Amino acid sequence: MDLSTPSTEVIECHGDPPLRPRMEPWLLEAVAEEGSGLHAKVAEYGSPLNLIEPSVFTDNLRVFQTLGSRHLNQFSIYFARKANKALSFVSATMQEGAGLDVASHEELDQALGLGFPPGKIICTAAVKSQALIQACVDRGVVIAIDSDDELQKVEAASVDQKVEPAQVALRVGGFTVDGKKLFTRFGFEIDRVVDDVQSFGSLARWMSAGMQIRGLHFHLDGYDYLQRAAAIHQSTQVIDELRRLGHELEFVDMGGGFPVCYLEDESEWLGFLEQHRSALRGERPPITHRNHSLGYHVEGEMVYGKPKLYPFYQESAKEGWLERILREVAESLNERNLELRCEPGRALLDGAGATVARVEFVKHFEDGRNYIGLAMNRTQCRTSSEDFLLDPLLIRSRIVEEDYNELSGYLVGAYCTESELILQRKIKFPKGVKAGDLLALPNTAGYFMHFLESRSHQFPLAKNLLAGLGALDPIDLESELLSSVSINDQVSYL
Ligand SMILES: Cc1ncc(COP(=O)(O)O)c(C=O)c1O
Repeated sequence: MDLSTPSTEVIECHGDPPLRPRMEPWLLEAVAEEGSGLHAKVAEYGSPLNLIEPSVFTDNLRVFQTLGSRHLNQFSIYFARKANKALSFVSATMQEGAGLDVASHEELDQALGLGFPPGKIICTAAVKSQALIQACVDRGVVIAIDSDDELQKVEAASVDQKVEPAQVALRVGGFTVDGKKLFTRFGFEIDRVVDDVQSFGSLARWMSAGMQIRGLHFHLDGYDYLQRAAAIHQSTQVIDELRRLGHELEFVDMGGGFPVCYLEDESEWLGFLEQHRSALRGERPPITHRNHSLGYHVEGEMVYGKPKLYPFYQESAKEGWLERILREVAESLNERNLELRCEPGRALLDGAGATVARVEFVKHFEDGRNYIGLAMNRTQCRTSSEDFLLDPLLIRSRIVEEDYNELSGYLVGAYCTESELILQRKIKFPKGVKAGDLLALPNTAGYFMHFLESRSHQFPLAKNLLAGLGALDPIDLESELLSSVSINDQVSYL
């Protein structure tokens, strides 16, 4: 069967109950256009294939930038690149004059290799080697310091730094909100950070150690805008004290965690949660594979706890959410002449990617179960939450109506375990599905396509195709080429 140049048709398929995604026009075009070539592209580059659309990323960035500058005298965005590895998003960030948040030595080297200005980079890596810190110090990259040990590494790296002091932001945490401390394993405790700075030494000692504290940085779990506002207020008070000690702090960096609303319709989200609980209580047939709990604790007919799921529908998201924070903090930041920095990842990537996979088999069991086997594995559309809760799009290889019968089943992947489900939800195909069809998982650019991707079983990593240009992202250059860029840069730092 020649699948390289079939005519295509996009057919509705959905979970039961459905969770219809918000859909970007570029994706509808890419999957719907007669002869769009998606089948040929998957045949050429392999399955799954990540489609990315940097122009959507740029639009998101501009919306945040415009909003920030409306409220604040000084506002900067640092794209958290860990959310997607494609280099096109780094280039788009650079083109817009925004900053970059890097989480590893490799991310740093790749950005510098593209010519990203080092002064517009912050390194927030959770664990930092001496080599990474040395690279940051040598190039003037701001380092978000998480511990005393990291501070010592910066001091060691600054020994021969005669010209510019190392640029340091102190990561802080443990903010008090509604009388309770917010838990974190990161950073210095906000209540004690002034003492910590002083116990390292006076301003003169910091200067002779070759270090300059440029700002405070934090990143909070969850999406509560009032917690962000409280954390910014508490940070500004600490900055007041540090400024009194002579440190010239210029910014508060509120990290990322900007919420994204992936779904069209709140009632579908609430309906799904309700029906899932009902299925777990045994009141209706399962809607997930083997009645998967998605993180609830189930005992008999009782359902406890919370699901381990990203909230795919959120009332307040992206710029609406940011505006709420800005209203709370703008006056205090402006009157102190402080810059607000932020590090969104997911929200900048909202709508900027999708993952397309080929159906390899459709299998029926006597007891009525059906499995649709995809040429991909679950690490290629996963984060730490239990499921990806958006209905896929079905792109047929041939339009042969009479050949297709309605079918409901589970999408399974290529790893060899019983738990290898691409989606835990049962998916209904009103007009059937067959080997050779394609399924597109929408809006996967923010974390889903890359965060957990693995090469287990020696499967190659998915390629990343620029949807508009039809060219591969430079991250897909031969890995040897990339590592040679990285090695050269490291040598020049030493
Ligand atoms: C320090 C830091 N900054 C920024 C981000 C990006 O967060 P998000 O993609 O949710 O906006 C993260 C995510 O874990 C982070 O740890």
